[in-house]
Amino acid sequence: MENIFEHICSFEPQQNDIQGEVTWKSPSNIALIKYWGKYGQQLPRNASLSMTLTEAYTQTSITYAYTKNQAQRVFLFEGQESKSFAKRIWRFIDSLERFYPFLQQLDLKIESSNSFPHSAGIASSASAMSALALCLVDMERSLFNRLKNEESFFKKASYIARLGSGSASRSIFKGFSIWGENMKVNRATDNRFAIGFNEDIHPFYKGLKDAILIVDEGEKQVSSSLGHSLMDCHPFVENRLVQANDHLIDLARVLKTGKKDSFIKIVEAEATSLHALMMSSEPWFILMKPATITILEKVRTYRDATKKFICFTLDAGPNVHLLYHSSDEKEIMEFIDAELKPLCSQEKILYDGMGKGPQKIK
Ligand code: DP6
Repeated sequence: MENIFEHICSFEPQQNDIQGEVTWKSPSNIALIKYWGKYGQQLPRNASLSMTLTEAYTQTSITYAYTKNQAQRVFLFEGQESKSFAKRIWRFIDSLERFYPFLQQLDLKIESSNSFPHSAGIASSASAMSALALCLVDMERSLFNRLKNEESFFKKASYIARLGSGSASRSIFKGFSIWGENMKVNRATDNRFAIGFNEDIHPFYKGLKDAILIVDEGEKQVSSSLGHSLMDCHPFVENRLVQANDHLIDLARVLKTGKKDSFIKIVEAEATSLHALMMSSEPWFILMKPATITILEKVRTYRDATKKFICFTLDAGPNVHLLYHSSDEKEIMEFIDAELKPLCSQEKILYDGMGKGPQKIK
């Protein structure tokens, strides 16, 4: 059987006519059970569960050609050179040298663009790193005649994406994904890649929508790496691991039974716990803005009054992801327009929903 994680060789001198282009589009995802804390080489302290989105995606192309000279590298973000993005991309490519030494023998031009404005305050590393990983793994497949089986291909893509950004490992799959060891939910024993979690999901949860309320468009106040490192000696780390594991087991069950109250309870507890962990770290951070708190309160008041299925989740920032069901779209939109939109930065809201996963373009 093919060992999908074995290291790939370099090209032989006679393979000097190699050239090509590959393009993938890959979505962002929103975690319902949060990945917070990592160790070793981008391995998660706890298993996380996310929903893959549709509208927020990155499209990435790699054009490559063999060279026996010093390889040339170009990175364009939305058609322009971007030094800060380029630095992260090439650092990632170099970090893959032991898997993919052949990358050093290729002139590479990487072009990337996002479907959402860069200033929208959305974490783009999940879509960016997953799109890039899919291109790289596609090159492995075509240049070395490997990973012909679809499952192996996506497993490897998730593995490579994880090395770029942990949450990117989950964007490889449609619907729901789980990343991290957990024996009770999908018997995952390997936390180096994520696995799609879409069997026997209750039809209700296939209609989930996500309105991303942009409270603040600024750059992230705390980088992911710093954020995760706060868990290394956090006073509540042990309890957090127990909580995340319990939440994962409960949410996985709820996604199959279709229970709604429990979904809301677990998803909101994950969001508020993530921020509580940040507030109780050393140093501490408060990433919510006053408008974030007002929105959370308004969501609860609206839910109590209408009994509608609506809840929030948060990333490591002030923007609010509002989750609801497509069948309630009309009423929820009215609520958003009347009560929440005025609290958003320039009334900015991105409407998204559960997605079908990445797509090969070329
Ligand atoms: C709060 O995946 O951005 O969004 O692995 O350092 O790139 P790195 O971190 P990243 O962390 C995401 C944290 C989170 C929760 C989540 O998506 O699970």
